[in-house]
This record gives sequence, C-alpha cells and structure tokens, in this order.
Amino acid sequence: MNAGLGAATARVPAKINLHLGVGPLREDGFHELSTLFCALSMYDDVTVRTADELSLTVRGESRRQVPTDASNLAARAVVELAARAGRDPHVAIAIDKHIPVAGGMAGGSADAAGALLAAARLWRLDLSRTELLEIAADLGSDVPFSLTGGAALGTGRGEKLLPVLHRGDFHWVIAVSGSGLSTPSVYRELDRLRDSRDGAEHSGDAGTRRPDELMVAIASGDVHAVAPLLHNDLQPAALSLQPLLRRTLRAGREAGALAGIVSGSGPTCAFLCATADAAVEVAAELSGSGVAKAVRTASGPVAGARLIPTDKNH
Ligand code: C5P
Repeated sequence: MNAGLGAATARVPAKINLHLGVGPLREDGFHELSTLFCALSMYDDVTVRTADELSLTVRGESRRQVPTDASNLAARAVVELAARAGRDPHVAIAIDKHIPVAGGMAGGSADAAGALLAAARLWRLDLSRTELLEIAADLGSDVPFSLTGGAALGTGRGEKLLPVLHRGDFHWVIAVSGSGLSTPSVYRELDRLRDSRDGAEHSGDAGTRRPDELMVAIASGDVHAVAPLLHNDLQPAALSLQPLLRRTLRAGREAGALAGIVSGSGPTCAFLCATADAAVEVAAELSGSGVAKAVRTASGPVAGARLIPTDKNH
C-alpha cells in the first residue's frame, strides 16, 4: 500500500469516446449524450500529502498549461470531499501529468478522480462507491468514468454509466495537438453549426440513440468490426475550430490506421490500429509527418482509478 500515513497516490487513465452522440442542448446548459467511453493506458498519477494548507503542483512536459490555483479540478475535488467529511482540505496535491491538457481525453477529470480516491484513502473515509461517484458527477461529466474505467455506456450528460462487455485489447495511436480546445467552446460550435442548418435531422435528436452495433463489436473483440463504427458528433465542431486536424486525420489513415477520430471535444486525434505492432508503425510514420506535437501509442480498455504506492521523490 502507500508509504507512510501522510500520503496516498492514485493512478488514473485517459479516456476516448468510441462513440459520442450529442443530443439536444438541455435547460441546464449541458447536452444529452449517448457515448461509449473507453479508458486508455495513458495515466496521470495524483499524490495527496498531509500539509499545512491546500496546494497543487504539476510535473510533466505540459505543466505550464495546467492551472495550479483553486480552479484546478483536483483541488476542487479535495475541497468538496473535505466539506462532505467535515474537515479542512489541507493537503499538498502533486500531479504527474501524462494525459494531454485540454485534449479531449478527460485529463482534468482524471486528476479530479485521482484526488478524490487518494484523499479518501489518506483521510481513511468510509465512503461507498455510490457516494464517491455522486461527488465525482458534481465535479464534471467525465469524472465518474475516470473512476470506473474499462468500457462504459454514458448517458445523461455523460455521468450515468453502464459497464459494457469487451474482449481483448484495442491498439491506438494518439496524436497530440500543439494547442488545446476548450470543451464548452466545441459544444457551442456544434450548436452554431446545427442552428445554421435546416430541419429536425440536425436538431441532435439522433444523438441520444444507443450505439448497439458498436457495443456488439466491442464485445466480440473484432477490431475490424469496431473501426468503421467509430463516431464523434463533436468532430465537425472541433474541425471547424481547428481545420488543420483534417490533415492529422488523413495522415493517420495514410499511415495505415484502420480508422481515426477526434477524441471527445478534441483536438487530440485517436487512430485505431489492427495490432500493437501496427500501432508502433503508424506512430513512427505519423511522428515523421509533422502533423502533431507528440505521437504516442496506447491500448484499452484498461481499469479506472486505483491506488498505487507513493513515489517518495514526488
Ligand atoms: O461536465 P464538464 O464540466 O466537463 O463540462 C464542461 C462543459 O462542456 C460544460 O459546461 C458544457 O458547456 C459542455 N458539456 C455539454 N454537455 C455535456 C457535457 C459537457 O454541453 N454532456
């Protein structure tokens, strides 16, 4: 378990949406979703340590893009959990960041989920899974999935989860963009694009349909059945805001990926490959093409947030 009594660390995966159906805009400003989440083997580690006051530090290449004040979702998670537990939130949060920032891979949500799990452990809170998921849902639509991981159907604003049967590993190449996209602005752009077209077919009603065919394909473990069914309703909006992503998507397919999609609200692009070896080849070719800031391989589905031993050097 975690070293000493004064610290706890959680490791939390990134996510992609194999299907992201966006329904109509709701009264509360969120969109009704029907999405198939998949957790990927790309992780942030979140350590919380007993301290005199709440603080947050970030380690990793993208650390400068992450807010370290009270607005950080991991800090908000700790404050929320402390309030529920009737105690002060005095911990030093240290995030070891590997998930792209503002990339559509739930990096901020992963950090919130990690902070929740680690702080609950540090403070020895006796919380049920349901209570933890409730707090997670209040923090953000993707935070519950960051806790549960695996593959899951998300409805509501993405916070209502049902585990989805899956077989084997799927192999991905992840192309990280040089500049992030803000999730609200991508949803707004989708609304704008929909408003500028005519007819009910664009109102988003189709967005809440369950991706049954894709669920069958995931359960079979057949990557060739999964590839043509990948779908993201937010993709046209992300492409409208960052037109160069078209080039990235084309380059991935030309490099040999079976299919490529914008991940969530983007701008990260995810390419599904036939095998782990194929993913390494596609990644090498994509790196050379210069269409992405960084290119990585990952596989999934993997498990959600879990406690790991604390690294004493961080
Ligand atoms: O839940 P979260 O804080 O991650 O959502 C960020 C923003 O993304 C929301 O404020 C909203 O603008 C948009 N969003 C949405 N519909 C969803 C989820 C998020 O419109 N289902």
